[in-house]
Amino acid sequence: LTQGKRPVVVYLHNAECTGCSEALLRTYQPLLDAILFDTISLEYHETLMQASGEMAEKSLEEAINHPDGFICLVEGAIPTAQDGIFGTIAGHTMYDNCKKILTKAKAVVAIGTCAAFGGVQAAAPNPTGAKGLNDCYGEFGVNAINIAGCPPNPLNMVGALVALLQGKEVELDDNNRPLMFFGETVHDQCERLPHFEAGEFAPSFDSEEAKNGWCLYELGCKGPSTYNNCPKVLFNEVSWPVKGGHPCIGCSEPDFWDSLSPFYEA
Ligand code: SF4
Ligand code: SF4
Ligand code: F3S
Repeated sequence: LTQGKRPVVVYLHNAECTGCSEALLRTYQPLLDAILFDTISLEYHETLMQASGEMAEKSLEEAINHPDGFICLVEGAIPTAQDGIFGTIAGHTMYDNCKKILTKAKAVVAIGTCAAFGGVQAAAPNPTGAKGLNDCYGEFGVNAINIAGCPPNPLNMVGALVALLQGKEVELDDNNRPLMFFGETVHDQCERLPHFEAGEFAPSFDSEEAKNGWCLYELGCKGPSTYNNCPKVLFNEVSWPVKGGHPCIGCSEPDFWDSLSPFYEA
């Protein structure tokens, strides 16, 4: 894929829960260690890297000044209120760090709904002024591909990276999400859809109807207004929220904490 020369990748953390990194660790086609050892040169990732303190800072500086450039993956929203003081790393605000680094990157991928749209940090009343990357840095020329989801499916993260490494044009929707992953609603791919169409709605989460695959729409499911490929790609090759009996809460949509709640209806 990368013809012996592993492209430099820098992974930054901002205001987030690290769930996206946890999800990425569980990718399996290929496994993450194969990606790290054979495909990319991951020079900076605060959760995974061995180095700390000044050594870590040195790695980051070298990576972002690499003569061949670098791809930047970013997890977490950017706190902007009060000059960004709500998020600092190594004495710099997350806002300044990302402004410096993202504007130099060959490509930027927002990993997860926090980095893409602000996520839970940006939920009302958003005291830290949290924003997604394009909202923050669009005016400086940053145009991140948004791999939305809370967390996103790891295959979507890796798929976007692979497409960038192959130099492919990635077609995006109005929210900068790749159409190849976010082109259809959860609802249109859902195995409970025949029950929706038959007007068969589960009356409660613990009902026999819910266990028998009836539709969760009347319990709050936001699948009809959510674009993501969960029913097709599954998580960990096993399941996805609606299959497990939980309604889709719209985690790949902008502002879902505010605009799609309450998540449950009973
Ligand atoms: Fe955590 Fe969700 Fe934000 Fe990822 S998108 S960092 S899983 S809150
Ligand atoms: Fe649509 Fe949700 Fe019903 Fe599935 S469970 S058919 S996503 S409303
Ligand atoms: Fe998120 Fe809905 Fe998929 S909550 S994980 S987009 S089923």
